[in-house]
Amino acid sequence: MTRTLMQEPLVAPKISEPSSTSATPTPEALFSATLVSPAVADSLPESYTIRPLRKSDYARGFLDCLRVLTTVGDITEAEWNGRYDWMSTQGQGGYYMMVVDDGSRIVATGSLLVERKFIHHLGMVGHIEDIAVAKDQQGKKLGLKMIQALDFVAEHVGCYKTILDCSEINEGFYLKCGFKRAGLEMAHYYEKPKSN
Ligand SMILES: CC(C)(COP(=O)(O)OP(=O)(O)OC[C@H]1O[C@@H](n2cnc3c(N)ncnc32)[C@H](O)[C@@H]1OP(=O)(O)O)[C@@H](O)C(=O)NCCC(=O)NCCS
Repeated sequence: MTRTLMQEPLVAPKISEPSSTSATPTPEALFSATLVSPAVADSLPESYTIRPLRKSDYARGFLDCLRVLTTVGDITEAEWNGRYDWMSTQGQGGYYMMVVDDGSRIVATGSLLVERKFIHHLGMVGHIEDIAVAKDQQGKKLGLKMIQALDFVAEHVGCYKTILDCSEINEGFYLKCGFKRAGLEMAHYYEKPKSN
């Protein structure tokens, strides 16, 4: 059974929107590099960098990295550009996709979705999604550092908690990242009618 894992609150709920100056994305990145944890960046092996997703990551193996997680499909560059542009305009302030680049390709990725609520006095909740580390790079703490980097973003944009869903086999990983079991996940899949 898949369970929801929740991190202990890092900070009290904040009521303000994130500072527009510190969180403004640069033209070439999905969000501001000021939201990249200096501690995580400094802890990476030489030649590795952690940074916000860029549109040009289509050509740096981003989708191949995601393929260790699930089916991605054949996404054309035009389709990629369309989704990236939506995230950086209508989705701005809601999508924080981070990558680790080893100097030649993307070797790890993860996403933080920021949900703005009315409850808890306009509270904000982070949702961690799509954590993937390239097969030949697993076991080097890149997954842990990715979670720490997304936690840093969540705390700095004002989330009072972060939650995620995972399968039983990954529970141990998220426990090591500071999460704990909290409830269970339910899903309703909307399947297209089968053609005869
Ligand atoms: C799960 C995944 C993200 C872990 O990343 P990783 O870089 O290999 O893991 P790390 O090296 O950062 O591991 C950190 C700690 O968690 C432990 N760990 C890693 N995966 C684990 C698992 N599945 N179960 C239990 N513990 C695990 C490690 O042993 C390490 O423990 P240590 O600090 O005592 O040495 C990676 O294996 C992956 O991409 N898997 C395929 C995609 C996937 O399942 N993503 C998660 C979707 S919910």
